[in-house]
Amino acid sequence: MASNRINGKFTPSDKAHIQERLPPDSTATTQQRFREFDLQGKVFVVTGGARGLGLAMAEALVEAGAQVHCVDRLPKPEEEFIQAQKRANPEFGGSLHYSRIDVRDAKNVASTFNEIGQINQRFDGLLAAAGINHVDSATHHTPEEIYEILSINYTGIFICATEAAKQMMKYSSRGSILLVASISGLVANKGMLSPVYNSSKAAVVQLTRSLAMEWGKVNEKGEGGIRVNCLCPGHIITPMVDKILEEEPESKEVWESENMLGRLARPEEFRGAALFLLSEASSYMTGASLVIDGGHTAW
Ligand SMILES: NC(=O)c1ccc[n+]([C@@H]2O[C@H](COP(=O)([O-])OP(=O)(O)OC[C@H]3O[C@@H](n4cnc5c(N)ncnc54)[C@H](O)[C@@H]3O)[C@@H](O)[C@H]2O)c1
Repeated sequence: MASNRINGKFTPSDKAHIQERLPPDSTATTQQRFREFDLQGKVFVVTGGARGLGLAMAEALVEAGAQVHCVDRLPKPEEEFIQAQKRANPEFGGSLHYSRIDVRDAKNVASTFNEIGQINQRFDGLLAAAGINHVDSATHHTPEEIYEILSINYTGIFICATEAAKQMMKYSSRGSILLVASISGLVANKGMLSPVYNSSKAAVVQLTRSLAMEWGKVNEKGEGGIRVNCLCPGHIITPMVDKILEEEPESKEVWESENMLGRLARPEEFRGAALFLLSEASSYMTGASLVIDGGHTAW
């Protein structure tokens, strides 16, 4: 949607734009409630969308009517992706697609995002969920392991965010970018020795603010108005966490006791956050970190 902001100032039609999102007559019966959450016709890329948290959030966007392109380094998406694809109801207008890419491969990321933009003549947002963990004491991390974690969790996110922003600028889209960080970027995360992972997530929190500052204003060419936020989840039961718990089952009890709800999260519990942050419902939110952690960091 074209912005009505010129040099940061609102024009009268901006007000009209806000009013448009409300039902025309609040006393009338309408099928359209909370239209600002509607993603009908919009196009998004979700990295790390073959399974786990990325896929659960991708499915929420599909249900809201979006065309969602999941990208991941797995040769084929996991069975849960196929099931999600089957659940996509064409009557809602949304659809779920898959491409294999490694987020570190800048050339491939650029060409895949460009192709998605070109086919649809639009590009509305990115949800960057691809990431890896590495649980070990600091003294046992080799330089190669440090490089690998940072190259996926930080450089990969940087590449995907900038390529998505280029597409949004090309189509003058007032899009939204959601970077998946973690509470591990905010606290040391008791019960999980992962010093480089934690630092990589802290870097994502700071990258969020920096990119939000760069892309927030609309320039004279009509580019910008792109919002960038990050999500800081607590512990969620996903394939990544299953693997950690296989090796260190005692961590589960520690993590459960460290949050106020006394349990780990399910990936579906982040659907609402994805929809909120990637839709117009969060139109005045940028540079922010949304913490959803069962109270883990609140005591
Ligand atoms: N599970 C948790 O408790 C938790 C908590 C906080 C944050 N997170 C973050 O959420 C995100 C998703 O994690 P998850 O728990 O669903 O893990 P997951 O391992 O189930 O999913 C991550 C996905 O990213 C993909 N991926 C990894 N490296 C990639 C690369 N180089 N290129 C493309 N794809 C790549 C994997 O193949 C996988 O499908 C990660 O960024 C993770 O750090 C997870």
